[in-house]
Amino acid sequence: MNQAESTIKAPNHVAIVMDGNGRWAQDRLHSRAWGHIRGAKVISSIVEEAIDLDIKALTLYAFSTENWSRPLPEIKIIFSLLKKYLIKERAQILNNNIRFNVIGDTSKLPVETNQLIASLEQDTSSSDGLNLTFAFGYGGRAEIISAVNQFIKSTPDKVPMTEEDLTNNLMAPQNGDVDLLIRTGGDQRISNFLLWQVAYAELFFTQTKWPNFNRFEFREICQQFGTIERRFGGVGPGQSYEHGSKLAHLNMDRELM
Ligand code: FPP
Repeated sequence: MNQAESTIKAPNHVAIVMDGNGRWAQDRLHSRAWGHIRGAKVISSIVEEAIDLDIKALTLYAFSTENWSRPLPEIKIIFSLLKKYLIKERAQILNNNIRFNVIGDTSKLPVETNQLIASLEQDTSSSDGLNLTFAFGYGGRAEIISAVNQFIKSTPDKVPMTEEDLTNNLMAPQNGDVDLLIRTGGDQRISNFLLWQVAYAELFFTQTKWPNFNRFEFREICQQFGTIERRFGGVGPGQSYEHGSKLAHLNMDRELM
């Protein structure tokens, strides 16, 4: 990390909706598959930048529960890109002390891909660097339902369930709440991504389509995040209840009577 970067108040947990692959490709008269292939190439540089910025957790939305409605050839391309990533990036992930996880329902992935995921999750389970999570076959509502069911199964007599109980039963509780959610591709939606965890996230939407997103824009967004005063429903410094003139308080008291 250089001098300038060390002054950035980095978010702990960044989540990214990697959107715009299809449109990026269609703009260039290519097939949507080409957009996904180019999009997959961007991931490594964003992971490297996250490490440089000292971000603790990075969650990438690679395939949603809703993406099952896409044409089968497109689904197969995304599956094969995941497999390729797991093989190609394995050494880098281990060398960089990254803890790797996949959240979501991967039961429809080929057995071999599930074995690659399990092996990488196992071999990085004690790594204490960046928590890198791929959301694959993932939906935020499904995750919440799964957390509730897991909780009921493990502690049937504990009533009522608390927010902490739910958080502890999420698919990657080590990542914590999302501080910064970035969506590329110009749309301004959450799309069923980490619904519980984004409760107080700062939201950044960029027009840049994912294959054109790069580490410099990523760093710039993180720098902007560092300038935001996050109040979590409270009041900021210098905005106490007592602030204001005596006359204003008198008027307010009258309004309340
Ligand atoms: C959204 O773009 C993107 C996805 C549904 C898939 C994201 C996948 C990758 C970045 C590549 C997969 C790589 C790995 C390593 C798993 P879109 O197709 O919805 O784009 P559009 O909104 O322009 O149609």
